[in-house]
Amino acid sequence: MEVFEAIRTVLATRNYRDTPLPQDIIRRIVEAGRLTASSRNGQPWHFIIVEDRATIKKLSEQTRSSPYVSQAVAAIVVAVDKSSTSGRGDAGRAVQSMVLTAWAEGVGSNWCGTQNQTEVRALLGIPEEFEIHAVVPLGYPTKPSHKGKKNRKPMSQVAHRGRFGQSFA
Ligand SMILES: Cc1cc2nc3c(=O)[nH]c(=O)nc-3n(C[C@H](O)[C@H](O)[C@H](O)COP(=O)(O)O)c2cc1C
Repeated sequence: MEVFEAIRTVLATRNYRDTPLPQDIIRRIVEAGRLTASSRNGQPWHFIIVEDRATIKKLSEQTRSSPYVSQAVAAIVVAVDKSSTSGRGDAGRAVQSMVLTAWAEGVGSNWCGTQNQTEVRALLGIPEEFEIHAVVPLGYPTKPSHKGKKNRKPMSQVAHRGRFGQSFA
């Protein structure tokens, strides 16, 4: 899938089929995260790939605003070095790389926050010096989110030509 087409069509996926994901697709998604650029090439991230259903279920108990994580066939937990001043921005880009790469393979995903850093660290053996940045559940969608429609502000509300307030559209 062409890059712009992936950006144009990707939606947060919150329902997943039980169908397992091929290992080469999971690897490609993680590779997209690993290859992402970061400030000063610091690469302050770690990606924990979880495929064990019981562990995914426990993980979903720590993503309370995103209970559907329990349906995912895999999840990638992104942990970031707390000492990195650019860690959150860097990790955000890595998540987006993975979300888009997954989408281009027909795999739905989303960015999920966790309310309980300590529990997730303990569950996955992540050292204290890392913050849990996001949980990215993965799976083939059961149906298109929002009936396949993206809801964004129009160009006229967010883009300006030359000077704030001048029409770009
Ligand atoms: C930084 C960030 C944090 C998010 N956190 C959550 C979350 O905790 N739970 C969730 O279900 N969706 C989460 N989302 C998904 C957004 O709610 C979703 O992308 C947005 O509503 C737009 O919907 P769309 O991507 O389907 O167009 C998050 C997205 C981003 C970029």
